[in-house]
Amino acid sequence: MSIANMLRTKYRHCTNQRFTATEGYRNNFYSKLGIRQNTFNTLLKLLENQHKSFYNIIETGTSRSGMENITGDGASTYIFDTFVNYYDGSVTSIDIDSIAVLKVNSTTSEKTNVICNDSLKELKNINSEIDCFYIDSYDVDMLNPLPAAEHALKEFQAIEDKLNSKTIIMIDDTPNSEEYLPPWIEESLNKLGKTKMDIKWPNGKGMLLVPYLEKNGYTKLSHAYQAIFVKESI
Ligand SMILES: C[S@@+](CC[C@H](N)C(=O)[O-])C[C@H]1O[C@@H](n2cnc3c(N)ncnc32)[C@H](O)[C@@H]1O
Repeated sequence: MSIANMLRTKYRHCTNQRFTATEGYRNNFYSKLGIRQNTFNTLLKLLENQHKSFYNIIETGTSRSGMENITGDGASTYIFDTFVNYYDGSVTSIDIDSIAVLKVNSTTSEKTNVICNDSLKELKNINSEIDCFYIDSYDVDMLNPLPAAEHALKEFQAIEDKLNSKTIIMIDDTPNSEEYLPPWIEESLNKLGKTKMDIKWPNGKGMLLVPYLEKNGYTKLSHAYQAIFVKESI
């Protein structure tokens, strides 16, 4: 049985209890999310506040490590899968790595579909309404963030005309400042004989997308290690 199905069976019909307040979410995700803890919580609460009967969530970059690296990677696909099994909805996750795609498809529920393709090609095929767009493909090198930043900007531009005024947009791996650098980045810098002083700011996957959103009328709701935007001010 998939992790999502186990959680769904256990926590289904917790009427009037919000997903973010459930034991399943608190124990399996929230307590392990580390530097992403507050932003994921904010994102899920924003979705909950929309009181929809069906949520469409699109993400780029699937949870390649399964549930084994929640703190490092985020386990977004499993969080979203559990969310749509609680409220109803669908998750479309796009990843270029066929092994990751097989792994996540076989350990999530039927409400989640992981598609193997380059995100820039696949995003053009999305036709559904989008409640949440999560941008987390293309690993960022904080010493050379431009390739990942350009990819994130192109991903957003590939889907921008299909977003509505309430779509919640979250970008991963975009520290707002040195204060939000996670320990594993400092460790990998140390291995290269570098320190956080070698990192230039702004940085991260959203280095180009954050200013693009700000310039184009999106409202920034939160920015720590991840950044959350919406077109309409809430
Ligand atoms: C950081 S991981 C995603 C982590 C996941 N969101 C989570 O929270 O567990 C990045 C993923 O993006 C995928 N990726 C890299 N380039 C891509 C591209 N051009 N199109 C789609 N996926 C890509 C990688 O294969 C990898 O699985």
